[in-house]
Amino acid sequence: MHYTPWGYNVFIMIKSIYMSKLQTSKLFLVSLLILIAGAVVAFMFYNQVGQADISTDSSKSARIALAEEFKGAYDAEIEALGNVLEMDMVAAPSEVEIFNGVKTKVWSYNGQVPGPEIRVKLGDTLKLNFTNNLPQETTIHFHGVRVPNAMDGVPGVTQDPIQPGETFVYEFTPKDSGTYWYHPHVRSSEQVERGLFGTLVVEDDISTKYSQDKLMVIDDWRMDTDKQVDNQFNTPMDLMHDGRWGNVMTVNGKLDEVMQVRPGERLRLRLVNTSNARVYNPVLKGLDAKVIAVDGMYVKEVFDFGSLELSPGNRIDIDVTVPKGAAEQSFDLIDTFSGGEVTLARLVVSSDFVETPEFAYPINPNVPEWVNAAMVSVDKEYRLNARRKAGSGMGMMDGIEWTINDKAYPDYDPFSFKHGEFNKIRFTNESSRLHPMHLHGQFFKVVARNGKPVNEPHFRDTVLVRPSESVDIALVPLDKGKWVNHCHILEHAEAGMMTVVEVK
Ligand code: C2O
Ligand code: CU
Repeated sequence: MHYTPWGYNVFIMIKSIYMSKLQTSKLFLVSLLILIAGAVVAFMFYNQVGQADISTDSSKSARIALAEEFKGAYDAEIEALGNVLEMDMVAAPSEVEIFNGVKTKVWSYNGQVPGPEIRVKLGDTLKLNFTNNLPQETTIHFHGVRVPNAMDGVPGVTQDPIQPGETFVYEFTPKDSGTYWYHPHVRSSEQVERGLFGTLVVEDDISTKYSQDKLMVIDDWRMDTDKQVDNQFNTPMDLMHDGRWGNVMTVNGKLDEVMQVRPGERLRLRLVNTSNARVYNPVLKGLDAKVIAVDGMYVKEVFDFGSLELSPGNRIDIDVTVPKGAAEQSFDLIDTFSGGEVTLARLVVSSDFVETPEFAYPINPNVPEWVNAAMVSVDKEYRLNARRKAGSGMGMMDGIEWTINDKAYPDYDPFSFKHGEFNKIRFTNESSRLHPMHLHGQFFKVVARNGKPVNEPHFRDTVLVRPSESVDIALVPLDKGKWVNHCHILEHAEAGMMTVVEVK
Protein backbone atom coordinates (compact mmCIF):
# COMPACT_ATOMS: atom_id res chain seq x y z
CA MET A 1 0.00 0.00 0.00
CA HIS A 2 2.96 2.28 0.70
CA TYR A 3 4.64 1.27 -2.53
CA THR A 4 2.50 3.44 -4.77
CA PRO A 5 3.30 6.78 -3.06
CA TRP A 6 6.99 5.87 -2.84
CA GLY A 7 7.21 4.90 -6.46
CA TYR A 8 5.14 7.86 -7.42
CA ASN A 9 7.39 10.22 -5.46
CA VAL A 10 10.47 8.87 -7.17
CA PHE A 11 8.78 9.29 -10.52
CA ILE A 12 7.78 12.88 -9.69
CA MET A 13 11.31 13.72 -8.49
CA ILE A 14 12.98 12.37 -11.60
CA LYS A 15 10.40 14.06 -13.74
CA SER A 16 10.86 17.41 -12.00
CA ILE A 17 14.65 17.18 -12.27
CA TYR A 18 14.32 16.84 -16.04
CA MET A 19 11.48 19.27 -16.37
CA SER A 20 13.33 22.03 -14.51
CA LYS A 21 16.28 21.54 -16.86
CA LEU A 22 18.58 22.13 -13.90
CA GLN A 23 22.23 22.10 -14.82
CA THR A 24 22.84 19.13 -12.56
CA SER A 25 25.81 16.93 -13.07
CA LYS A 26 25.11 13.38 -14.19
CA LEU A 27 26.95 12.18 -11.11
CA PHE A 28 24.57 14.02 -8.82
CA LEU A 29 21.56 12.59 -10.59
CA VAL A 30 22.92 9.05 -10.41
CA SER A 31 23.79 9.30 -6.71
CA LEU A 32 20.37 10.73 -5.98
CA LEU A 33 18.73 7.86 -7.80
CA ILE A 34 20.85 5.31 -5.94
CA LEU A 35 19.92 6.93 -2.64
CA ILE A 36 16.23 6.87 -3.45
CA ALA A 37 16.38 3.30 -4.75
CA GLY A 38 18.22 2.30 -1.58
CA ALA A 39 15.54 3.90 0.56
CA VAL A 40 12.79 2.14 -1.40
CA VAL A 41 14.50 -1.25 -1.11
CA ALA A 42 15.14 -0.74 2.60
CA PHE A 43 11.52 0.20 3.14
CA MET A 44 10.23 -2.79 1.19
CA PHE A 45 12.57 -5.10 3.08
CA TYR A 46 11.44 -3.69 6.40
CA ASN A 47 7.84 -4.11 5.36
CA GLN A 48 8.42 -7.73 4.25
CA VAL A 49 10.11 -8.65 7.48
CA GLY A 50 7.23 -7.08 9.33
CA GLN A 51 4.75 -9.17 7.40
CA ALA A 52 6.74 -12.35 8.00
CA ASP A 53 6.61 -11.62 11.73
CA ILE A 54 2.89 -11.23 11.62
CA SER A 55 2.35 -14.47 9.65
CA THR A 56 4.61 -16.41 12.04
CA ASP A 57 2.49 -15.15 14.90
CA SER A 58 -0.79 -16.16 13.31
CA SER A 59 0.67 -19.51 12.25
CA LYS A 60 1.79 -20.06 15.83
CA SER A 61 -1.67 -19.51 17.17
CA ALA A 62 -3.12 -21.62 14.33
CA ARG A 63 -0.81 -24.45 15.38
CA ILE A 64 -1.95 -24.19 18.96
CA ALA A 65 -5.59 -24.18 17.91
CA LEU A 66 -5.02 -27.20 15.62
CA ALA A 67 -3.32 -29.16 18.40
CA GLU A 68 -6.20 -28.18 20.68
CA GLU A 69 -8.69 -29.50 18.11
CA PHE A 70 -6.90 -32.85 18.20
CA LYS A 71 -7.58 -33.32 21.93
CA GLY A 72 -9.81 -36.33 22.56
CA ALA A 73 -9.24 -37.85 19.12
CA TYR A 74 -7.36 -40.73 20.73
CA ASP A 75 -5.60 -41.29 24.00
CA ALA A 76 -1.90 -40.89 24.67
CA GLU A 77 -1.83 -43.90 26.96
CA ILE A 78 -3.92 -46.90 27.85
CA GLU A 79 -4.32 -48.56 31.15
CA ALA A 80 -3.52 -52.27 30.92
CA LEU A 81 -6.40 -54.13 32.56
CA GLY A 82 -4.24 -57.08 33.56
CA ASN A 83 -5.50 -59.62 31.05
CA VAL A 84 -2.57 -61.16 29.17
CA LEU A 85 -2.97 -63.13 25.98
CA GLU A 86 0.20 -65.18 25.75
CA MET A 87 0.99 -67.16 22.65
CA ASP A 88 3.87 -68.84 20.92
CA MET A 89 4.71 -67.81 17.40
CA VAL A 90 7.19 -69.53 15.13
CA ALA A 91 8.33 -68.28 11.76
CA ALA A 92 9.53 -71.18 9.65
CA PRO A 93 9.44 -72.68 6.16
CA SER A 94 6.31 -74.74 5.57
CA GLU A 95 3.88 -75.75 2.86
CA VAL A 96 0.34 -74.64 2.17
CA GLU A 97 -2.24 -75.71 -0.35
CA ILE A 98 -3.36 -72.71 -2.37
CA PHE A 99 -3.96 -74.65 -5.57
CA ASN A 100 -5.90 -77.89 -5.35
CA GLY A 101 -3.55 -80.80 -4.87
CA VAL A 102 -0.40 -78.67 -5.04
CA LYS A 103 1.89 -77.95 -2.14
CA THR A 104 3.33 -74.47 -2.35
CA LYS A 105 6.46 -73.87 -0.30
CA VAL A 106 6.09 -70.79 1.86
CA TRP A 107 7.51 -69.15 4.95
CA SER A 108 4.80 -68.80 7.53
CA TYR A 109 3.83 -67.99 11.08
CA ASN A 110 2.74 -71.15 12.92
CA GLY A 111 2.45 -73.05 9.65
CA GLN A 112 -0.37 -71.02 8.17
CA VAL A 113 -0.82 -68.23 5.61
CA PRO A 114 -2.09 -65.78 6.69
CA GLY A 115 -0.56 -66.29 10.12
CA PRO A 116 -2.76 -66.64 13.21
CA GLU A 117 -5.58 -64.12 13.49
CA ILE A 118 -4.79 -62.62 16.87
CA ARG A 119 -7.75 -61.09 18.68
CA VAL A 120 -7.42 -59.18 21.91
CA LYS A 121 -9.77 -56.85 23.74
CA LEU A 122 -8.87 -53.20 24.18
CA GLY A 123 -6.97 -53.09 27.48
CA ASP A 124 -5.58 -56.61 27.06
CA THR A 125 -1.86 -57.21 26.85
CA LEU A 126 -0.44 -59.36 24.10
CA LYS A 127 2.61 -61.43 24.88
CA LEU A 128 4.13 -63.16 21.90
CA ASN A 129 6.94 -65.64 22.48
CA PHE A 130 8.51 -65.54 19.08
CA THR A 131 11.00 -68.03 17.61
CA ASN A 132 12.80 -67.53 14.35
CA ASN A 133 13.23 -70.81 12.52
CA LEU A 134 13.80 -69.17 9.17
CA PRO A 135 17.09 -69.44 7.30
CA GLN A 136 17.43 -65.64 7.68
CA GLU A 137 17.25 -63.09 10.44
CA THR A 138 13.87 -61.46 10.99
CA THR A 139 11.71 -59.29 13.26
CA ILE A 140 7.99 -58.71 13.66
CA HIS A 141 6.47 -55.29 13.16
CA PHE A 142 2.87 -54.66 14.25
CA HIS A 143 1.64 -52.39 11.51
CA GLY A 144 -0.45 -49.46 12.75
CA VAL A 145 -0.31 -50.45 16.40
CA ARG A 146 0.95 -47.78 18.77
CA VAL A 147 3.43 -49.90 20.69
CA PRO A 148 6.27 -48.94 22.99
CA ASN A 149 9.14 -48.03 20.66
CA ALA A 150 11.22 -51.08 21.63
CA MET A 151 8.39 -53.36 20.42
CA ASP A 152 8.20 -51.86 16.93
CA GLY A 153 10.31 -54.52 15.26
CA VAL A 154 12.59 -52.34 13.17
CA PRO A 155 16.13 -53.73 12.98
CA GLY A 156 18.84 -51.21 13.67
CA VAL A 157 16.31 -48.70 14.96
CA THR A 158 14.29 -50.37 17.73
CA GLN A 159 15.93 -53.79 18.13
CA ASP A 160 18.59 -56.12 16.82
CA PRO A 161 17.44 -58.51 14.14
CA ILE A 162 16.46 -61.91 15.52
CA GLN A 163 18.92 -64.50 14.23
CA PRO A 164 17.90 -67.95 12.99
CA GLY A 165 17.22 -70.14 16.02
CA GLU A 166 16.81 -67.16 18.33
CA THR A 167 13.78 -65.99 20.26
CA PHE A 168 12.31 -62.62 21.17
CA VAL A 169 9.34 -61.63 23.31
CA TYR A 170 6.99 -59.00 21.93
CA GLU A 171 4.78 -57.64 24.67
CA PHE A 172 2.51 -54.63 24.58
CA THR A 173 -0.97 -53.34 25.31
CA PRO A 174 -2.51 -51.92 22.13
CA LYS A 175 -3.81 -48.40 22.68
CA ASP A 176 -6.50 -48.38 20.02
CA SER A 177 -9.18 -50.85 19.00
CA GLY A 178 -9.26 -51.73 15.33
CA THR A 179 -7.78 -53.76 12.50
CA TYR A 180 -4.00 -54.18 12.40
CA TRP A 181 -1.54 -56.62 10.94
CA TYR A 182 1.95 -57.90 11.50
CA HIS A 183 4.85 -58.77 9.24
CA PRO A 184 8.66 -58.95 9.25
CA HIS A 185 10.71 -55.79 8.91
CA VAL A 186 13.84 -57.52 7.63
CA ARG A 187 14.14 -58.20 3.91
CA SER A 188 10.40 -57.70 3.89
CA SER A 189 10.11 -57.78 0.10
CA GLU A 190 11.14 -61.42 0.30
CA GLN A 191 9.76 -62.46 3.69
CA VAL A 192 6.27 -60.97 3.27
CA GLU A 193 6.04 -62.30 -0.30
CA ARG A 194 6.89 -65.79 0.92
CA GLY A 195 3.90 -65.72 3.26
CA LEU A 196 4.90 -64.01 6.50
CA PHE A 197 1.96 -61.85 7.49
CA GLY A 198 -0.98 -62.08 9.86
CA THR A 199 -3.66 -59.93 11.45
CA LEU A 200 -4.19 -58.44 14.87
CA VAL A 201 -7.70 -57.31 15.77
CA VAL A 202 -8.18 -55.21 18.87
CA GLU A 203 -11.82 -55.55 19.81
CA ASP A 204 -14.02 -53.07 21.59
CA ASP A 205 -17.63 -53.22 22.77
CA ILE A 206 -19.02 -52.70 19.31
CA SER A 207 -17.12 -55.62 17.76
CA THR A 208 -19.46 -58.23 19.18
CA LYS A 209 -22.67 -56.54 18.03
CA TYR A 210 -22.24 -57.51 14.40
CA SER A 211 -23.77 -60.73 13.09
CA GLN A 212 -20.37 -61.60 11.69
CA ASP A 213 -16.98 -59.93 11.95
CA LYS A 214 -14.60 -61.20 9.31
CA LEU A 215 -11.17 -60.41 7.97
CA MET A 216 -10.45 -60.24 4.28
CA VAL A 217 -6.68 -60.46 3.96
CA ILE A 218 -5.89 -59.56 0.39
CA ASP A 219 -2.54 -60.66 -0.99
CA ASP A 220 -0.97 -61.20 -4.35
CA TRP A 221 1.84 -63.58 -5.20
CA ARG A 222 4.18 -63.99 -8.08
CA MET A 223 4.22 -67.70 -8.74
CA ASP A 224 6.23 -69.63 -11.28
CA THR A 225 4.78 -72.29 -13.57
CA ASP A 226 5.18 -74.92 -10.81
CA LYS A 227 2.94 -72.80 -8.58
CA GLN A 228 5.85 -71.95 -6.32
CA VAL A 229 6.80 -68.47 -5.13
CA ASP A 230 9.10 -67.02 -7.79
CA ASN A 231 12.40 -66.71 -5.97
CA GLN A 232 13.76 -63.73 -7.88
CA PHE A 233 13.25 -60.89 -5.41
CA ASN A 234 13.95 -57.19 -5.94
CA THR A 235 14.45 -57.65 -9.66
CA PRO A 236 15.64 -54.54 -11.54
CA MET A 237 12.31 -54.61 -13.38
CA ASP A 238 10.32 -54.54 -10.10
CA LEU A 239 12.59 -51.87 -8.65
CA MET A 240 12.19 -49.61 -11.64
CA HIS A 241 8.42 -49.91 -11.56
CA ASP A 242 5.80 -50.16 -8.83
CA GLY A 243 7.45 -53.12 -7.11
CA ARG A 244 6.47 -56.77 -7.33
CA TRP A 245 2.95 -57.23 -8.65
CA GLY A 246 1.94 -60.86 -8.62
CA ASN A 247 0.03 -63.11 -10.96
CA VAL A 248 -2.05 -64.84 -8.29
CA MET A 249 -4.39 -63.14 -5.83
CA THR A 250 -5.62 -64.72 -2.65
CA VAL A 251 -8.01 -63.64 0.07
CA ASN A 252 -7.36 -65.31 3.41
CA GLY A 253 -4.90 -67.54 1.59
CA LYS A 254 -7.56 -68.83 -0.80
CA LEU A 255 -8.07 -68.35 -4.51
CA ASP A 256 -11.85 -68.34 -4.14
CA GLU A 257 -12.74 -67.12 -0.66
CA VAL A 258 -16.46 -67.55 -0.02
CA MET A 259 -18.24 -66.11 2.97
CA GLN A 260 -21.59 -67.64 3.90
CA VAL A 261 -24.05 -65.01 5.07
CA ARG A 262 -27.76 -64.83 5.88
CA PRO A 263 -30.34 -62.27 4.76
CA GLY A 264 -30.59 -59.56 7.42
CA GLU A 265 -27.13 -60.11 8.79
CA ARG A 266 -25.09 -57.04 9.60
CA LEU A 267 -21.47 -57.68 8.74
CA ARG A 268 -18.23 -56.06 9.65
CA LEU A 269 -15.63 -56.82 7.03
CA ARG A 270 -12.04 -55.89 7.75
CA LEU A 271 -10.04 -55.55 4.55
CA VAL A 272 -6.27 -55.69 4.82
CA ASN A 273 -3.82 -55.33 1.94
CA THR A 274 -0.75 -57.44 2.66
CA SER A 275 0.53 -57.40 -0.93
CA ASN A 276 4.12 -56.34 -1.54
CA ALA A 277 3.12 -53.68 -4.01
CA ARG A 278 -0.32 -54.06 -5.56
CA VAL A 279 -2.88 -51.34 -4.90
CA TYR A 280 -6.57 -52.27 -4.91
CA ASN A 281 -9.72 -50.28 -5.27
CA PRO A 282 -12.16 -52.67 -3.63
CA VAL A 283 -15.87 -52.50 -4.37
CA LEU A 284 -18.68 -54.66 -2.97
CA LYS A 285 -20.93 -55.04 -5.97
CA GLY A 286 -24.66 -54.69 -5.43
CA LEU A 287 -24.49 -53.88 -1.72
CA ASP A 288 -24.68 -50.59 0.13
CA ALA A 289 -21.59 -50.75 2.30
CA LYS A 290 -20.25 -47.97 4.52
CA VAL A 291 -16.66 -47.36 5.57
CA ILE A 292 -16.51 -47.25 9.37
CA ALA A 293 -12.76 -47.37 9.93
CA VAL A 294 -9.57 -46.70 8.00
CA ASP A 295 -6.18 -48.06 9.08
CA GLY A 296 -7.77 -49.30 12.27
CA MET A 297 -9.29 -46.03 13.42
CA TYR A 298 -12.99 -45.20 13.33
CA VAL A 299 -14.01 -42.47 10.89
CA LYS A 300 -15.58 -39.17 11.86
CA GLU A 301 -18.57 -39.96 9.68
CA VAL A 302 -19.26 -43.01 7.56
CA PHE A 303 -19.04 -42.78 3.79
CA ASP A 304 -19.81 -45.03 0.87
CA PHE A 305 -17.40 -47.87 0.31
CA GLY A 306 -15.99 -48.15 -3.17
CA SER A 307 -13.88 -45.10 -3.88
CA LEU A 308 -11.09 -45.46 -1.35
CA GLU A 309 -7.98 -47.22 -2.55
CA LEU A 310 -6.41 -49.96 -0.44
CA SER A 311 -2.65 -49.54 -0.80
CA PRO A 312 -0.15 -52.00 0.60
CA GLY A 313 -0.46 -51.67 4.37
CA ASN A 314 -3.90 -50.02 4.38
CA ARG A 315 -6.99 -51.41 6.10
CA ILE A 316 -10.62 -50.52 5.47
CA ASP A 317 -13.42 -51.72 7.77
CA ILE A 318 -16.89 -51.77 6.30
CA ASP A 319 -20.36 -52.14 7.76
CA VAL A 320 -22.85 -53.80 5.44
CA THR A 321 -26.28 -55.31 5.93
CA VAL A 322 -27.35 -58.20 3.74
CA PRO A 323 -30.79 -57.21 2.42
CA LYS A 324 -33.71 -59.33 3.61
CA GLY A 325 -34.67 -59.89 -0.01
CA ALA A 326 -31.24 -61.15 -1.03
CA ALA A 327 -31.84 -64.82 -0.23
CA GLU A 328 -29.97 -67.23 -2.50
CA GLN A 329 -28.05 -64.43 -4.16
CA SER A 330 -24.34 -63.76 -4.15
CA PHE A 331 -22.28 -60.59 -4.10
CA ASP A 332 -18.70 -60.12 -5.21
CA LEU A 333 -15.94 -58.17 -3.61
CA ILE A 334 -14.09 -56.94 -6.65
CA ASP A 335 -11.00 -54.90 -7.42
CA THR A 336 -11.22 -52.09 -9.97
CA PHE A 337 -7.85 -50.40 -9.47
CA SER A 338 -6.17 -51.71 -12.60
CA GLY A 339 -9.16 -51.31 -14.88
CA GLY A 340 -11.72 -54.04 -15.37
CA GLU A 341 -13.13 -56.08 -12.53
CA VAL A 342 -11.26 -58.79 -10.70
CA THR A 343 -13.22 -60.89 -8.22
CA LEU A 344 -11.44 -61.11 -4.89
CA ALA A 345 -14.03 -62.88 -2.73
CA ARG A 346 -17.72 -63.73 -2.74
CA LEU A 347 -20.55 -63.39 -0.27
CA VAL A 348 -23.09 -66.20 -0.71
CA VAL A 349 -26.48 -65.60 0.88
CA SER A 350 -28.55 -68.44 2.32
CA SER A 351 -32.34 -68.33 2.61
CA ASP A 352 -32.91 -68.32 6.39
CA PHE A 353 -33.07 -64.70 7.38
CA VAL A 354 -32.20 -63.13 10.71
CA GLU A 355 -33.21 -59.88 12.38
CA THR A 356 -30.73 -57.13 11.63
CA PRO A 357 -28.87 -55.93 14.72
CA GLU A 358 -29.69 -52.26 15.18
CA PHE A 359 -27.04 -49.94 16.53
CA ALA A 360 -25.45 -46.67 15.50
CA TYR A 361 -22.37 -46.72 13.30
CA PRO A 362 -19.29 -46.88 15.52
CA ILE A 363 -17.77 -43.54 14.60
CA ASN A 364 -15.29 -41.25 16.31
CA PRO A 365 -16.75 -37.72 16.35
CA ASN A 366 -13.47 -36.42 17.79
CA VAL A 367 -11.46 -36.86 14.60
CA PRO A 368 -10.27 -33.28 14.01
CA GLU A 369 -11.37 -31.42 10.88
CA TRP A 370 -8.17 -29.40 10.72
CA VAL A 371 -9.62 -27.08 8.09
CA ASN A 372 -7.06 -24.47 9.16
CA ALA A 373 -4.14 -26.79 8.47
CA ALA A 374 -3.38 -24.68 5.40
CA MET A 375 -2.50 -21.74 7.68
CA VAL A 376 0.64 -23.38 9.00
CA SER A 377 3.80 -23.97 7.04
CA VAL A 378 5.19 -27.37 6.14
CA ASP A 379 7.62 -28.51 8.85
CA LYS A 380 9.35 -31.06 6.69
CA GLU A 381 9.20 -31.95 3.05
CA TYR A 382 10.09 -35.43 1.88
CA ARG A 383 10.96 -35.60 -1.80
CA LEU A 384 10.50 -39.08 -3.20
CA ASN A 385 12.66 -40.12 -6.11
CA ALA A 386 14.95 -42.74 -7.63
CA ARG A 387 18.52 -42.68 -8.84
CA ARG A 388 21.08 -44.95 -10.29
CA LYS A 389 22.97 -46.75 -7.60
CA ALA A 390 26.55 -45.61 -7.24
CA GLY A 391 29.02 -48.17 -8.54
CA SER A 392 26.46 -50.02 -10.63
CA GLY A 393 26.39 -50.16 -14.40
CA MET A 394 25.41 -47.26 -16.61
CA GLY A 395 21.78 -48.16 -17.24
CA MET A 396 19.02 -47.74 -14.66
CA MET A 397 18.39 -51.47 -14.98
CA ASP A 398 21.80 -52.18 -13.51
CA GLY A 399 20.91 -50.86 -10.10
CA ILE A 400 18.45 -48.37 -8.77
CA GLU A 401 17.83 -46.95 -5.37
CA TRP A 402 14.76 -45.17 -4.13
CA THR A 403 15.45 -42.02 -2.22
CA ILE A 404 13.87 -39.67 0.27
CA ASN A 405 15.50 -36.25 0.09
CA ASP A 406 18.28 -37.74 -2.04
CA LYS A 407 19.20 -40.27 0.64
CA ALA A 408 18.80 -44.02 0.41
CA TYR A 409 18.32 -45.86 3.70
CA PRO A 410 20.31 -46.68 5.85
CA ASP A 411 21.43 -43.17 4.98
CA TYR A 412 18.61 -40.75 5.84
CA ASP A 413 17.69 -37.14 6.44
CA PRO A 414 16.93 -36.99 10.17
CA PHE A 415 13.95 -35.09 11.50
CA SER A 416 12.26 -34.67 14.87
CA PHE A 417 8.58 -34.20 15.48
CA LYS A 418 7.43 -31.98 18.28
CA HIS A 419 5.63 -34.23 20.76
CA GLY A 420 2.05 -33.17 21.43
CA GLU A 421 2.20 -30.37 18.87
CA PHE A 422 0.71 -29.96 15.43
CA ASN A 423 3.20 -31.10 12.77
CA LYS A 424 2.80 -30.88 9.03
CA ILE A 425 4.74 -33.01 6.56
CA ARG A 426 4.76 -32.89 2.79
CA PHE A 427 5.46 -35.85 0.55
CA THR A 428 6.45 -34.67 -2.90
CA ASN A 429 6.57 -37.44 -5.44
CA GLU A 430 9.21 -36.44 -7.96
CA SER A 431 9.02 -39.83 -9.64
CA SER A 432 6.50 -41.38 -11.98
CA ARG A 433 5.75 -44.30 -9.64
CA LEU A 434 3.35 -45.03 -6.79
CA HIS A 435 4.51 -44.59 -3.21
CA PRO A 436 2.17 -45.63 -0.39
CA MET A 437 3.97 -43.85 2.45
CA HIS A 438 3.65 -45.41 5.88
CA LEU A 439 4.57 -43.83 9.20
CA HIS A 440 5.16 -46.06 12.21
CA GLY A 441 3.81 -45.30 15.65
CA GLN A 442 1.50 -42.41 14.70
CA PHE A 443 -1.77 -41.73 12.98
CA PHE A 444 -2.03 -38.79 10.64
CA LYS A 445 -4.61 -37.03 8.51
CA VAL A 446 -4.27 -35.99 4.90
CA VAL A 447 -4.81 -32.21 4.84
CA ALA A 448 -3.87 -31.29 1.25
CA ARG A 449 -3.15 -32.78 -2.12
CA ASN A 450 -1.13 -30.78 -4.63
CA GLY A 451 -1.47 -27.82 -2.28
CA LYS A 452 -5.27 -27.93 -2.30
CA PRO A 453 -6.86 -28.51 1.11
CA VAL A 454 -8.68 -31.81 1.58
CA ASN A 455 -10.58 -32.99 4.59
CA GLU A 456 -10.63 -36.77 4.81
CA PRO A 457 -12.99 -37.78 7.64
CA HIS A 458 -10.46 -40.19 9.09
CA PHE A 459 -6.94 -40.86 10.27
CA ARG A 460 -4.51 -43.09 8.42
CA ASP A 461 -1.12 -44.69 8.86
CA THR A 462 -0.45 -45.14 5.14
CA VAL A 463 -1.23 -42.82 2.24
CA LEU A 464 -0.78 -43.40 -1.46
CA VAL A 465 1.24 -40.66 -3.13
CA ARG A 466 0.63 -40.86 -6.85
CA PRO A 467 3.13 -39.95 -9.59
CA SER A 468 4.10 -36.25 -9.44
CA GLU A 469 1.60 -35.68 -6.65
CA SER A 470 2.26 -33.87 -3.40
CA VAL A 471 0.39 -34.91 -0.26
CA ASP A 472 0.40 -32.95 2.98
CA ILE A 473 -0.23 -34.89 6.15
CA ALA A 474 -0.69 -33.57 9.66
CA LEU A 475 -0.35 -35.21 13.02
CA VAL A 476 0.01 -34.63 16.72
CA PRO A 477 2.57 -37.24 17.80
CA LEU A 478 1.84 -38.79 21.18
CA ASP A 479 4.22 -41.73 21.09
CA LYS A 480 7.87 -41.07 21.75
CA GLY A 481 10.77 -42.80 20.11
CA LYS A 482 12.40 -43.41 16.77
CA TRP A 483 9.93 -44.40 14.11
CA VAL A 484 10.48 -45.25 10.50
CA ASN A 485 8.64 -43.64 7.66
CA HIS A 486 8.80 -45.62 4.42
CA CYS A 487 7.18 -46.61 1.20
CA HIS A 488 5.07 -49.75 1.67
CA ILE A 489 5.92 -50.98 -1.78
CA LEU A 490 8.37 -53.34 -0.15
CA GLU A 491 10.80 -53.36 -3.07
CA HIS A 492 11.02 -49.56 -2.89
CA ALA A 493 11.60 -49.70 0.87
CA GLU A 494 14.29 -52.37 0.45
CA ALA A 495 15.95 -50.19 -2.18
CA GLY A 496 16.27 -47.25 0.20
CA MET A 497 12.91 -45.49 0.43
CA MET A 498 12.87 -45.24 4.19
CA THR A 499 13.72 -42.57 6.71
CA VAL A 500 13.61 -42.18 10.50
CA VAL A 501 11.74 -39.58 12.49
CA GLU A 502 12.09 -39.06 16.17
CA VAL A 503 9.35 -37.98 18.52
CA LYS A 504 10.92 -36.25 21.47
CU1 C2O B 1 3.77 -52.46 7.45
CU2 C2O B 1 7.20 -50.49 8.28
O1 C2O B 1 5.48 -51.44 7.84
CU1 CU C 1 7.44 -46.47 -3.37
